[in-house]
Amino acid sequence: MMRDDMTRVINVDLGDRSYKVKVGSGLVAGAGALVEGLGYRLVVMVTDTNVSALYAGALTESLRSSGVDVFTVEVPAGEQHKTLEVASGLIDEILGHKPPVDRRTLVVALGGGVVGDMAGFLAAIVLRGLNWLQCPTSLLADVDASTGGKTGVDHAAGKNLVGAFHQPLGVMIDVDVLRTLPVAELANGMAECVKHAVIRDAGLLDYIAANADNLMSVSGDQKLGFKEDVMVELIARNVSIKSSVVSEDELETGVRADLNYGHTIGHALEAASDFTGLGHGEAVSLGMVAENRIASCRGLLPSDRAGRVESVLDSLGLPVRRGGYDPEAVWNIMQHDKKMLDGKTRMVLPSDTGSVKIYDDIKEEEVLDAVEFLGKERRA
Ligand code: GLY
Repeated sequence: MMRDDMTRVINVDLGDRSYKVKVGSGLVAGAGALVEGLGYRLVVMVTDTNVSALYAGALTESLRSSGVDVFTVEVPAGEQHKTLEVASGLIDEILGHKPPVDRRTLVVALGGGVVGDMAGFLAAIVLRGLNWLQCPTSLLADVDASTGGKTGVDHAAGKNLVGAFHQPLGVMIDVDVLRTLPVAELANGMAECVKHAVIRDAGLLDYIAANADNLMSVSGDQKLGFKEDVMVELIARNVSIKSSVVSEDELETGVRADLNYGHTIGHALEAASDFTGLGHGEAVSLGMVAENRIASCRGLLPSDRAGRVESVLDSLGLPVRRGGYDPEAVWNIMQHDKKMLDGKTRMVLPSDTGSVKIYDDIKEEEVLDAVEFLGKERRA
């Protein structure tokens, strides 16, 4: 059942490409009403093999009840399938549909980040661009990829190297679908929430700290046991931050790069682990700790603030120390990152929780020290 009293709406202000992000409970079942009257005849629903079994039926039923036909295509679950080859197969399916897709066709993404990136990419290129609606189903997609219109696929040369900025028509975030998310997946999203708090909103860090037990609770049936209003508030606050950054710098020529905080070292740690054995959220958590170490050594970030970020990450089950990385190898990986600019290593460093700046004078010895720091024991 849709709970209107709890629904929050955040505006993404991008001139004639502005759109609304709705966050609430029971929204999947109410999707048809959202699409009704917009003139669409056909929905191409893009989902994945895991999500399809859980939520595609309810969404299809709701959309059909508003008079649109629904045609579903599935991406095999997993980042390894976010490729041009898979996109090409899906395009064949979409263009083969009878009656043919046309400008009255709406693409709907139902899934996590991989589905959102792929569906948005298909919407950007099929018929030179179709409108699309995002229904994210993971906390990570809710608080990050759902907003901002980055779409695309991976390439052998690197992640997300082929794609387009293509803003959706709207985003519908239903917290009910998070109940079946594995706890580790929830923690992935939480790492991005902490990131948002550090770059823009110290009060959000306090909110996460005060509600960590509730947010991470698991009920007897192994479903996530969070309180709906707490999850809605968490997601809405994060979407607001993402939305204001994107509104200021849609195409990432300036402040949108602040969202890379924790990711410069985090991504290198992921690559050093061959993208196995270290979840994205774990990598971002360790990346934030390591980048905070650089900020503290530069005298930017007081050590009590760095300690506070670590305590919050720890309370969410995210790692704050991990040994075994070769600092030189991590530094070498960073030299091939697309976040480099003119051969310089750039990094977003905090001077407090809620305030960051981009630095492009990061030195090798600072990174080596930060990676070694991750292997040291934490003092409580
Ligand atoms: N995930 C970072 C961004 O959307 O810019």
